[in-house]
Amino acid sequence: MDNIKVLIDEEKLQKRVKELAKEIEKDYKDKEINLICILKGSIFFTCDLAKNINNNVKIDFLRLASYEGENSSKVKLVANLLPSIENKDVIIIEDIIDTGKTLNYLVPYLKKENPKSIKVCTLLDKPSRRAVSFKADYTGFEIEDKFVIGYGLDFDQDYRNLPFIGYIEK
Ligand code: IMP
Ligand code: MG
Repeated sequence: MDNIKVLIDEEKLQKRVKELAKEIEKDYKDKEINLICILKGSIFFTCDLAKNINNNVKIDFLRLASYEGENSSKVKLVANLLPSIENKDVIIIEDIIDTGKTLNYLVPYLKKENPKSIKVCTLLDKPSRRAVSFKADYTGFEIEDKFVIGYGLDFDQDYRNLPFIGYIEK
């Protein structure tokens, strides 16, 4: 069994998710909000966030994968389950920003669909790991350069169901 340590406990996590939801509510007044959940990592975050936003909230999904090439990784859209986002206020919900490559690919890709607005909300950010610059509009927690698991984040598909953010102690 892996030795799992808690980095952000459930209470702290839920408190911050509620704060983010209130920030979003304030910024979007009474507008409809279209959340785009990036599968699979953002699933719990998207649900908890959505439950705490008192606007008309719609939730849609897409799945990305990154492939390691010779000396750089490439991001690919593997499942686009989105309805038209034309003229919609869209918020991309991400679990973590690491190198920044995923969102550097995704944001321009979605902008081509002509949404009314597009913002990014990430639960976690590891700014020290950036390969390409990217800044989210809403960030839950900045963390150190550690590989984290839980609350949607996985290690080889395991540990997504932990209710907290943790890491594996070597
Ligand atoms: P980026 O394109 O490097 O910013 O990568 C973002 C994606 O890498 C995230 O959506 C995660 O799926 C994955 N990822 C990055 N860091 C971690 C981590 O510490 N734990 C689990 N997944 C991670
Ligand atoms: Mg991800």
